[in-house]
Amino acid sequence: MKVTISAVLLCLVILMTGLAVAVENKGAANMVLTGGERGNVPFPHHQHQNKLVDCKICHDVFPQENGAIDRLKKEGKLKPKMVMNKQCTKCHKAKRRAGQKSGPITCKQCHIIK
Ligand code: HEC
Ligand code: HEC
Ligand code: HEC
Repeated sequence: MKVTISAVLLCLVILMTGLAVAVENKGAANMVLTGGERGNVPFPHHQHQNKLVDCKICHDVFPQENGAIDRLKKEGKLKPKMVMNKQCTKCHKAKRRAGQKSGPITCKQCHIIK
């Protein structure tokens, strides 16, 4: 009897862990962000999640929603280049200065999709 109860409990724990993992929607692994006339910008989303861990670093400014940046810009709630200057390049420059692995900094390295 004891064995069955622990087996049932173990199954429950495994099930709930599975559910907790499934509930967090991490979004697309890779995405393309609208970059205007300069060209669109590829963005390795999961690579950033793995490296930075804290979702709020970016999602404080825009929600976890497909096309959120474009929508907020259209609604006038987010200035164009805000995410780029306050997040992308700001962080890449800081990491580079600190001698750590970093991402692109020049226009042409990011705005590559015409
Ligand atoms: C370095 C910045 C950054 C970090 C950190 C980040 N995200 Fe995102 N996320 C983005 C961008 C950019 C978009 C696209 C927004 C858009 O389409 O306008 C996005 C979109 C999303 C979306 C909606 C798009 C889709 O494919 O469903 C979800 C869900 C999401 N993120 C979840 C997360 C979670 C969960 C974390 C933390 C584990 C996280 N993000 C961390 C930048 C980031
Ligand atoms: C790290 C990648 C990155 C670099 C480097 C970068 N950009 Fe961007 N840029 C983006 C992203 C992502 C967006 C879309 C989000 C936003 O508007 O903040 C964007 C948006 C823009 C926009 C606004 C587009 C629109 O129609 O709303 C312009 C203009 C722009 N970039 C020009 C430049 C120029 C000029 C440079 C070089 C001095 C540059 N970018 C460097 C990633 C980058
Ligand atoms: C808070 C810091 C931070 C922010 C914000 C951030 N990045 Fe990065 N980015 C990094 C780091 C760190 C790396 C190096 C990752 C690695 O080595 O695994 C990187 C790497 C990259 C790479 C190169 C990936 C590769 O494998 O060569 C691209 C492209 C990139 N970032 C684009 C962006 C864009 C576009 C944004 C804004 C939407 C952004 N990043 C926002 C920290 C950041």
